[in-house]
Amino acid sequence: MSERPVSTTDAGIPAPSDEFSQSVGPNGPLLLQDHYLIQKMAHFNRERVPERVVHAKGGGAYGKLLITEDVSQFTKAGLFQKGAETDLLIRFSTVAGELGSADSARDPRGFALKFYTDEGNYDLVGNNTPVFFIRDPQKFSDFIHSQKRRADTHLRDNNMQWDFWTLSPESAHQVTFLMSDRGTPYTWRHMNGYGSHTFLWYNAAGEKFWVKYHFKTDQGIRNFTAAEADAMSGEDPDHHLRDLRTAIANGDHPSWTVQIQVMPFEAAADYRFNPFDLTKVWPHGDYPPITIGRFVLDRNPENYFAEIEQAAFEPANLVPGIGSSPDKMLQGRLFSYPDTHRYRIGPNYLQLPVNRPKVAVHSYNKDGPMSYANPGDPLYAPNSAGGPVADPAPWTGEQYGVAGEIVRSAYRLHSEDDDYGQPRTLWEKVLSDTDRDHLVSNIVGHASAPEVTAEMKPRIAEYWRNIHKDLGDRVAQGIGLNNG
Ligand code: NDP
Ligand code: HEM
Repeated sequence: MSERPVSTTDAGIPAPSDEFSQSVGPNGPLLLQDHYLIQKMAHFNRERVPERVVHAKGGGAYGKLLITEDVSQFTKAGLFQKGAETDLLIRFSTVAGELGSADSARDPRGFALKFYTDEGNYDLVGNNTPVFFIRDPQKFSDFIHSQKRRADTHLRDNNMQWDFWTLSPESAHQVTFLMSDRGTPYTWRHMNGYGSHTFLWYNAAGEKFWVKYHFKTDQGIRNFTAAEADAMSGEDPDHHLRDLRTAIANGDHPSWTVQIQVMPFEAAADYRFNPFDLTKVWPHGDYPPITIGRFVLDRNPENYFAEIEQAAFEPANLVPGIGSSPDKMLQGRLFSYPDTHRYRIGPNYLQLPVNRPKVAVHSYNKDGPMSYANPGDPLYAPNSAGGPVADPAPWTGEQYGVAGEIVRSAYRLHSEDDDYGQPRTLWEKVLSDTDRDHLVSNIVGHASAPEVTAEMKPRIAEYWRNIHKDLGDRVAQGIGLNNG
């Protein structure tokens, strides 16, 4: 006798047949009363939720964060106390492509972490680059539109990308990373992650610090060349997803060393760069990275849709000891992510197992589609009915003074702020000769696409000359312009 369970409808009623619809005679038409058939077809039609508007293609895994150093002088956050071990979910992704697009495409990579801490979920939603293309969220949707498909042809268009970048000189640092071989990582395991933004940390005494996060791959940095990445797009579009799953399944658990840079709170005002400008790094010489622990990935998800497609990361999920900063991009992101989750997954997305915190939730929010952890009475605060009360400890979050007129303005410049200085340092002091050769040939390849117009080419050469004359001259030559 078979051990297999009887298939059922979604209501648990034994299924009459997995092969045959109800018909009037073997050759006759079908009947509306065949609820099993109708449920199957109707549910199938509703299988997709909208893909993420950016970062649609990705994959992830579970793991653990282990803190080995004492940083209690900087933060009271439980997950960063020495010896703390915290469960986490990570999702890696490409930015511009759709759900089925190739993993090895030239793009930044998402590096989104969700820590299931004892004080609720802490989400750190970073990239594999320490900087970004823009510094004001006003330009985010415009930037993304320039990377996605055209309205008329539904084709991606390199001319549109160069148009946006060359009109947005603050993009120069990130585009240098993107066009270098770091724009085509060999696998997700072989790249660094960065929190990118500056965050606030505060300790038990309420003292405040500015912090940046770095996650250094213990597997070593390894990148594809442009030709290798193109070949892999055809050979195995799911190369990164497959690599991560296979490594973890084989017990080859990837890990990253966790480092922070810490800036004294008062130092921000006069620092030589605007420390909240997302197009800038803090040079290591100024604020040396401090190793505080590591995280390891040791478990594959069992159900991609439930655990990865429905995973919802939000930079606004900050636990006590960690706060936001005046970085305008971070401020924009605090709103954007929970808003898109409510649209994409539904208002009760935090009740799904992958997103649900591992601590009890005592919120006064109720009802809405698919609420299955609905709170009971009392449903209002204040109440005299024994309902939950807010943390009685004095609030010590983002407590700092701000003042000024309401404006629409660029950041106030710090002494060494400009758009080209840091990418110039990258070109002059960090990249090897081979890295430089590849940067030039990758730019030339991208800017030689047939849709890139003759009018655009001098603008592209000028953009790179602003970083360094040699770089601009080499690009100009490569795209068929005379030097000078
Ligand atoms: P450092 O010489 O102290 O650091 C340079 C850093 O660049 C390295 O530690 C490494 O950081 C990163 N790096 C090494 N090779 C490459 C590469 N091929 N492509 C991109 N990054 C690479 O100098 P500074 O801290 O003064 O930074 C100099 C420049 O280096 C910056 O202007 C920036 O462009 C770049 N950079 C700086 C980072 C920072 O946080 N300070 C981080 C990454 C790049 P890692 O191992 O983190 O990649
Ligand atoms: C995904 C908005 C900047 C990293 C997303 C999504 C939106 C979004 C709407 C889709 C989320 C989802 O459907 O789950 C924005 C806005 C930005 C911004 C408005 C700037 C104003 C950044 C920056 C970084 C970043 C600077 C990295 C430092 C990511 C990552 C994901 C993502 C990693 C994928 C998360 C996941 O794996 O589910 N972003 N983004 N974004 N973004 Fe941003």
